[in-house]
Amino acid sequence: MRSPHRLLILLFLALVVAGAANPATASTHPVHAAHAIVVSVHELASHVGVKIMQAGGNAVDAAVATGFALAVVHPAAGNIGGGGFMLIRMADGKARFLDYREMAPAAATRDMYLDPQGNVIEGASDIGYKAIGVPGSVAGMVYAEQKFGKLTLKQVMAPAIQLAREGYALSWEEAVDLHDRHLAEFPESRRVFQRSGDYYKPGEVFRQPDLARTLERIAEKPDDFYHGSLARELAAAMQKGGGLITADDLARYEVKEREPVRGTYRGYEVISAPPPSSGGAVLIEILNILEGYDLGKMGERSAQSMHYTVEAFRRAFFDRAEFMGDPDFAKIPVAQLIDKRYAAAWLETIDPAHATPSKDLKRPAVFSALEQYAAGHPPVMAPHESNHTTHYSVMDADGNAVAVTTTINDWFGSRVTADGLGFLLNDEMDDFSSKPGVPNGDGLIQSNTNAIGPGKRPLSSMTPTMVVRDGKTVMVLGSPGSSKIITTVANVLMGVVDYGMNIQEAVNAPRFHNQWMPDVVNVEQWFSPDTVNLLQHMGYDVEVGLHYGTHVAPYWSDAECIAVDAKTGERLGASDVRDGGKAVGY
Ligand code: DON
Repeated sequence: MRSPHRLLILLFLALVVAGAANPATASTHPVHAAHAIVVSVHELASHVGVKIMQAGGNAVDAAVATGFALAVVHPAAGNIGGGGFMLIRMADGKARFLDYREMAPAAATRDMYLDPQGNVIEGASDIGYKAIGVPGSVAGMVYAEQKFGKLTLKQVMAPAIQLAREGYALSWEEAVDLHDRHLAEFPESRRVFQRSGDYYKPGEVFRQPDLARTLERIAEKPDDFYHGSLARELAAAMQKGGGLITADDLARYEVKEREPVRGTYRGYEVISAPPPSSGGAVLIEILNILEGYDLGKMGERSAQSMHYTVEAFRRAFFDRAEFMGDPDFAKIPVAQLIDKRYAAAWLETIDPAHATPSKDLKRPAVFSALEQYAAGHPPVMAPHESNHTTHYSVMDADGNAVAVTTTINDWFGSRVTADGLGFLLNDEMDDFSSKPGVPNGDGLIQSNTNAIGPGKRPLSSMTPTMVVRDGKTVMVLGSPGSSKIITTVANVLMGVVDYGMNIQEAVNAPRFHNQWMPDVVNVEQWFSPDTVNLLQHMGYDVEVGLHYGTHVAPYWSDAECIAVDAKTGERLGASDVRDGGKAVGY
């Protein structure tokens, strides 16, 4: 659903980012680290993770410490009131995927965001108490720490608690971000983040004593967040504000360990996010199709290589629309979608010289299971997946690696701060389909499989990914960017594998995106007009930037990635200049 407030946010961002660094002129050198590295959107959070590893922690300890630190220094997206996915690959080759995505409360209903006439109520699924899903981040990070970390929860949470209590100096962007007008609609958010109207200034130290106390309580007694006094206080705050979440919802929340999705691409193994994320399956389907072309020979960002890549994006997103949702509520045919025979059949449908109109796509009849499923689940229009989330990547000295993408969905989530607890809550309910059959502003289409239901997890595009060669993790990848997450990860991965870039060059390289519907190719502002022309001659509707009505965001996503130097074993950290993050290593 597109609502005016979201347009304003996007306009604001377009203005803010207009002043951001240009990847075309940014350094092409990744940060080199002999032993271990953390790459995140915030320098302070990256430092926290590195210090934890220097103190004897492994990559999981560092990831958990970084995650809690981001909840303090990056409240717009880092969080304890949201959810996420953590992909862990230990040096012994064992990969685990932790799903701590938010869950719809028991009282959620399929039509909860519709008015009596059956129309979507503007803002209902993304602003305020009713937009909030049961948060999973605390459960996920605690689970990871207790099962896979070497240190104690108290040790890894100590830096975040210190940052919350002692504060940190706000950058210009951070101070400006806190002016968000929807935060001002909620008195507790206005008190905590806007000092009741006396806005924080750039350079001023931002202290969060309520959050420090909440983090201390979690460190002391982690179960309290779901089963104890913290749960009761959170549930009371939700009820008071008219939300649906109860203490029982919190008590029922559980982290799910799922099998990651696996594929191969030109001799590399690719390990990524399974449903309820669409990310891994769509990424691998894209790569499977592209394996049929010698992209490297066609040239990086040449019109011909872009043509084939967009056609692969289009086909995989067409399948995303049809098949994806919560695997605990529907069988998702991932095995068929990532089968190389299916990709080969898709490849046959690609015209070497012309774009295929999205409306004319016909799924090749390779697997009857796909056809039967599609017949029973007509695609429906779904809500827009909005623009703010954060990804961080970690690798330790032993070669253990962690990729985390975490979100409260929108910038500052639902804008609701839990009374007295100091943290923002997500609006992840907006990732469900609010109303089957109604187009949303972004035209991102999903099937009924993603309708709202109690206890269900909304479909995600988050794509924490690892690339493996000869048994060793050689890349750790991920980004925010809603549907653009998947194509961003594909762009970066192909930059290294197909076009021989180093990881920083691959992160810097201008991105392009297609998601089946709307039938346009979005290219970042740095593409040459000649390339755009050639694509237009092939039949593409090319938009420079992302267009939201009259507003244009000139670029998107924030890839925070690691590669390993094949010769020296050094960890190479590439933070995205588009969002001012930082790779820190030792
Ligand atoms: O889970 C998802 O796919 C979305 N809630 C993520 C939103 C997002 O990436 C926005 N980022 N820029």
